[in-house]
Amino acid sequence: MKATAKAPANIAFIKYWGKTNEALRLPANSSLSMNLSNAFTVTSVEFGKQFKTDIVFMNGKKIDGGEALRISQHLNKIRKLAHMNLKAKVETENNFPKNAGIASSASGFAALTVAGSVAAGLKLSEKELSILARVGSGSACRSIPDGFVEWKQGNSSETSFAYSLYPADYWDIRDLIIVVGSASKKVGSSEGHALAESSPFYVARIKDMSQKVVEIKKALGQKDFTKFGEILEAEAINMHAVMMTSNPPLLYWNPMTIEIINSVWKLRDSGVEVYFTIDAGPNIHLICQAKDMIKINTTLKKLPSVKFTIVNHPCEGTRLIS
Ligand code: PMV
Repeated sequence: MKATAKAPANIAFIKYWGKTNEALRLPANSSLSMNLSNAFTVTSVEFGKQFKTDIVFMNGKKIDGGEALRISQHLNKIRKLAHMNLKAKVETENNFPKNAGIASSASGFAALTVAGSVAAGLKLSEKELSILARVGSGSACRSIPDGFVEWKQGNSSETSFAYSLYPADYWDIRDLIIVVGSASKKVGSSEGHALAESSPFYVARIKDMSQKVVEIKKALGQKDFTKFGEILEAEAINMHAVMMTSNPPLLYWNPMTIEIINSVWKLRDSGVEVYFTIDAGPNIHLICQAKDMIKINTTLKKLPSVKFTIVNHPCEGTRLIS
């Protein structure tokens, strides 16, 4: 009763910020993302009579408290589906450095969902896995299918899941993660979603989301990189405007984030097509075409505020590896 799965993190071009149902993690809008080849989690789950409680090892260290509890609660959902009560040992490793400020909940809950359900003897479809991963952490549902992914908002748990729009080799674009900060956030995304509604800009944001999804899907379908980049960058700023104007306000940027934004705009002015997007943290994702990646990476790495960068191309979704 043991299985191991590997899941990629994903970067959203159209973001998920705000929920209509807290417990089920139903989003206030559809979102669109790409799986990241070089930011992933490998998780093993073993159920057995020898375990008196669930035990969780993260990057080689036994963990207790909040994170371990959330993992245990997710295993409870799997146990319920499999009609069994065995406790489990969970071993989970991220390939990116701990405390790099790179979110691991999407890759983490996608890997846990696939490894856990297989170890429990369940045979779930991709759609069912995506729904189950979503309940663990919203954005995790997008790490299950391959390549370029849409998470349909839906209006119930059964209708809110992610599916692949295009496979990983559809478009040779890059996501260069620029790591500038690692301090753990005061308000994580789980709590942050609940504050979205307190922003006076939230209603305006939600009103435009369906149209934005239509437009970015059109740009993706036509491989129109300029249109695609313009939409995703404006979308990131839009989400952060809601974060900054919520009550209490959430400011995930630091001075280095702004320095990188200015460098991106300078590069664009000089004719290099690169756009940025930012999640709930100070690090920035730069989206570019494969041909421009080396130039952009070399330029950015020279900035003193850049700790390191991670180059990603689109990749497949979550896979069982043993
Ligand atoms: O899945 P969560 O609860 O960690 O929320 C993800 C929120 C953002 O990363 C800011 C946006 C997104 O769609 O990934």
